[in-house]
Amino acid sequence: MRIFLIGYMGSGKTTVGRKVANKLNMGFVDMDAMIESKLRKTVADIFAELGEEKFRALERECLLEVADYDDVVISTGGGSPCFFDNMEVMNRAGETIYLSLTPTELSKRLRHTAIRKRPILADRQGDDLETFIAANLEKREPFYNRAAWKVNGADKDVDQQIIRLVEARKI
Ligand code: S3P
Repeated sequence: MRIFLIGYMGSGKTTVGRKVANKLNMGFVDMDAMIESKLRKTVADIFAELGEEKFRALERECLLEVADYDDVVISTGGGSPCFFDNMEVMNRAGETIYLSLTPTELSKRLRHTAIRKRPILADRQGDDLETFIAANLEKREPFYNRAAWKVNGADKDVDQQIIRLVEARKI
């Protein structure tokens, strides 16, 4: 089984993914971390030195690689569903779950993290951050909404909800 967690930056894909993988005794892969260890560069440095287009190509390569792994929960980068036919690749290879949150909730969470690590959000602060997220999310949601499952990422028990879906053999 393969579970792909998708959603905007700050939606909790990595934290939730780790918990679900632990509980279900599955492997865990964070695609950003995979790209960083392959290139031995941070995502921010890859964007700065090689550009977003190259980053998206690397992300695509990693996706094709993990789409072959067995028994794994994959935390994808927030932009990955929106490039190439990545969403189709994920839907064919496994179960896709969209961790959905509102722009207000996302901006509250992201305000307290190092935005510098996320080049798409660099230089956006305060009200500007929420306005940007709202516009960006509107463009991305048509892709995210192609996921097989959608859960409320703001729910405290979102990991348990996913585990229950798997245990009920719905997934
Ligand atoms: C991005 C999200 C990031 C990372 C890169 C681009 C995006 O991953 O892949 O900074 O375009 O939304 P997270 O969603 O894990 O922050």
